[in-house]
Amino acid sequence: MSDERDLIRSRINIVDLVQERTNLKRKGKAWWGLCPFHDDKSPSFQVSDLTGQYRCWSCGAKGDIFTWVMEVEKVDFRDALEQLAEKAGVELKKGAPNEGSKRKSYQAANEFTLQFYSAQLKSSKQTLDYCDRRGLSETVREEWQLGYAPGEHGLTNHLKKQGISLADAKEIFLVDGDQGGGYYDKFRDRLMFPIHDERGHLVAWGGRILGQGNPKYINSGDTPLYSKRKVLYGMNRAKEHIAAADRAILVEGYMDVIACHRAGVRNTVASLGTAMSEEQAKLLHRWCQKVTVLYDSDAAGQKAAARAAEVLSAEGLQVKVALLPVGQDPDSLLKEVGPEAVVRVTEGGLSPVEYAISQLEMKYDLTAQEFWDQAIDSLKLARDSLEVSKQLEALALRYPFINNPQEALRALKQLARARLGPTKSAAAPKRSSGIEKVVRDVTGPEKLILSALFFEELRPIAWEAIGEPELFPSWIAKQVQLALYTAFGDDSPQGETRNWLAEIPEDEAKSYLSELAMHLETKKDQLHIPDEASLRHAIERLGLKRERAGLIRKRLGGEFAGDNAMQFTKRWTQSIASEIDQN
Ligand code: UTP
Ligand code: MN
Repeated sequence: MSDERDLIRSRINIVDLVQERTNLKRKGKAWWGLCPFHDDKSPSFQVSDLTGQYRCWSCGAKGDIFTWVMEVEKVDFRDALEQLAEKAGVELKKGAPNEGSKRKSYQAANEFTLQFYSAQLKSSKQTLDYCDRRGLSETVREEWQLGYAPGEHGLTNHLKKQGISLADAKEIFLVDGDQGGGYYDKFRDRLMFPIHDERGHLVAWGGRILGQGNPKYINSGDTPLYSKRKVLYGMNRAKEHIAAADRAILVEGYMDVIACHRAGVRNTVASLGTAMSEEQAKLLHRWCQKVTVLYDSDAAGQKAAARAAEVLSAEGLQVKVALLPVGQDPDSLLKEVGPEAVVRVTEGGLSPVEYAISQLEMKYDLTAQEFWDQAIDSLKLARDSLEVSKQLEALALRYPFINNPQEALRALKQLARARLGPTKSAAAPKRSSGIEKVVRDVTGPEKLILSALFFEELRPIAWEAIGEPELFPSWIAKQVQLALYTAFGDDSPQGETRNWLAEIPEDEAKSYLSELAMHLETKKDQLHIPDEASLRHAIERLGLKRERAGLIRKRLGGEFAGDNAMQFTKRWTQSIASEIDQN
């Protein structure tokens, strides 16, 4: 496992990786740029090829190539590892031995299919006419890689000619059949929409009938490449825009996504006719905090919108439900009214509670008790108790049974208690943990010894100090010593710095060391770089302090008697540090 990661770390230079997104400038040995993780005014983001780490000295963001990909691509560690392995040309050992090659042949089948369908579209006058009627211009067709599936055996024959296994093609929903009858195309006489996952891999297809008919759309089922619950149509194109806006627009289908993007609303994705899943909500939450649900205005669409809002809220996202004129979806709105109308609709929207109440208003008269019961029930959807009380106040003004708003409010609160139980506080949104501050009171000689670890010719000497028990007086240097000794024992670490650093088990220690290395890289004058004489001198000095400390400990023995191990180490460290300061 760690072989794979070492290889990836050796092959991928963190400076190049970060440069793909953020401009870095070289200063001495260090690279600096504006921190991408906060609103940086002057360059406080340092990237080090030596340690393979980045660090923002202003907001505290830090990490290596893996955390970098996790942060900027909003993926988990496994995904980051896979992406970087792909980039580095490293084959990851996992699952069945042929899993990787299987995946490659599926991907090849899909790529050949893409070429085939787009070539077919160019020569299908009927489909091109259909596209024109629906506003799918050539630019749009190319951008969304639309195609045409002629059907029967068109794709089957093409794939066979390309040497693709039809059994594989069947596994990914491109063809069907055999058992003696041979294979045939799954999609026949349809306009084709390729479906990509978040990372832009082609994983599935949707095909629309040209004109009227049933089923209107056929979509790939779940395959080894595709899980419906995990993919959102358009995510690969929309993700950066979603992050920039901190909001995603969620629509129902292919045509709506394309319409919104055409109208310039590029943070739009679709759940593709299936109910919004928890996984899809999580995927969105990795990129933003807010989602606007913009589903068709028909009854089915509105029901699905309410359900999607529920799933998204449960994930901790802030949800708005946008309202469309009756009979419209974003695509028809674009065609019939224009792009400004689409933009305006995506900018509006109601909170789930407001939305539920607006639905009730259409269904019931205000004098119906059902309206009030269900309006109260809808307060379950509130984000927090503040929204509950705001809504209750607004409702009280419209309560037809009691004229005095104060008394109406009291009556509604009573109704709420009866129907909802004690005032609920809505699920708190999930928060990412902040950056811990660490106190580092490392003394000069300690710093010099630890710095020497980054110079190959000095490392063996410094390592002698690492092997010396109780040589380091400060808390953090002790941690570093312990972590290093645990990781490497008597033999000093070998090979590339970024690799041996990664082996240190203790995060605190790893962080301290890589920051130290980064500081060294920024100091241009040679004064801060240890040489053999100063290194030996530092070790000697600490040795003397240790002896003295032994005496002090004896002298103060009684003072520490009641301490537990933690208190002792702390107080002892402090007393030694002040001893050293006096020298
Ligand atoms: P719609 O019927 O609203 O389709 O279904 P649409 O996107 O507006 O398409 P056009 O404008 O009629 O071409 C919304 C989504 O539900 C899925 C599709 O993803 C579709 O885009 N759907 C719909 C299916 O999967 N199968 C169907 O038979 C119908
Ligand atoms: Mn629609």
